[in-house]
Amino acid sequence: MTSRRYDIAVLAGDGIGQEVVPAAIACLDVVAERHGCAFDWRPYPWGSDHFRQHGRMMPTDGIDQLRRHDAIFLGAVGDPEIPDTETLWGLLIPIRRHFDQYVNLRPVRSLASVPTRVVDADDIDLVIVRENVEGEYSTVGGRIYPGDDREAAVQQTIFTRIGVERVARFAGELAARRRGLVTSATKSNGIIHTMPFWDEVVERTLRDIPGVRLHKELVDALAAKLVRDPMSFDVIVASNLFGDILSDLASAAAGSIGVAPSANLNPERVFPSMFEPVHGSAPDIAGQGVANPVGQMWAGALMLEHLGEPAAAAELVAAFEACLAAGVRTRDLGGTAGTQEFTNAVAAHLRALPAPLVTSPARSRA
Ligand code: NAI
Ligand code: MG
Repeated sequence: MTSRRYDIAVLAGDGIGQEVVPAAIACLDVVAERHGCAFDWRPYPWGSDHFRQHGRMMPTDGIDQLRRHDAIFLGAVGDPEIPDTETLWGLLIPIRRHFDQYVNLRPVRSLASVPTRVVDADDIDLVIVRENVEGEYSTVGGRIYPGDDREAAVQQTIFTRIGVERVARFAGELAARRRGLVTSATKSNGIIHTMPFWDEVVERTLRDIPGVRLHKELVDALAAKLVRDPMSFDVIVASNLFGDILSDLASAAAGSIGVAPSANLNPERVFPSMFEPVHGSAPDIAGQGVANPVGQMWAGALMLEHLGEPAAAAELVAAFEACLAAGVRTRDLGGTAGTQEFTNAVAAHLRALPAPLVTSPARSRA
């Protein structure tokens, strides 16, 4: 009997989002059933086609429609014919901001038998905690004298004490449950107003968290170290822009961008959180049935964890790792399997497992 049901808004979006989202849903349904829970998937046809028809990525009351769900499961948005500023600021960024999803969590781990791009780094296990609603991605600024030779543009970076403190606290508490090391990405030697403020607030916040060491590192040196010695990191806390760049770098070092997941979290659970792969809509391979669904499946596992189903989450991750290890891989990982073939293998692997001994307890949203 199914006692725990989760009501999920599905935004498959554009390009390969339309292929990897159904693939992940198929496996999530199998794993949920094994653990005595179920998903009610509610698809929303928003994205670039919606933009072509209505001139907007989502309806004006889109945020209100999403609010009532337990979580949002997103594929990707992005279309070669539509400026990225429209797709990003018309859908993704409003969701992150309205729902105060101030943590963007990006775990990076080397997967069984997926070759890393870095020599002797088969044991990467780090998490990037990216500030997700302020910092360098701000609407404050503008352009003066457009088209004239005096033309100029200004973009303001905004760090608030509350904003830095809460993301630093999240990173610290996460590190306390892992190996106890937080590396803070900074650039306080060059950016002399905002970054020293970031350093100050991060230091003060982490002082209150027992068992956690803080290592402050200039972002350029940190980037080099992610390539040279990725295994030396545990939790990296970074501003919006630095976190974005470091997470693509780290996921590429660990194998492929096609396997990397991300969670946009509202840790207080006042609003729904959103789960998506790190990759975009990949127009170069869209419609060919070759996209790697692992990033989307792993994002689904992060969603299960957030919903209070850690055992189901772990089983799903172990299932796609087992398939990769058995040599079923998509083209980006040097294999020949299509999206559907890989998905069928994961679902079959899950179905063949013995019944789980205990089901995880449900955790309700505050
Ligand atoms: P992308 O991540 O879509 O693709 C980069 C490269 O990686 C491409 O060669 C692609 O084929 C490959 N790739 C990505 N995901 C893959 C997968 N699952 N399996 C196999 N190969 C995969 O990044 P790109 O090309 O810079 O952006 C394309 C569009 O996506 C743009 O419009 C961009 O703005 C948008 N985008 C959207 C994001 C989102 O919705 N959160 C994130 C990143 C980009
Ligand atoms: Mg990115």
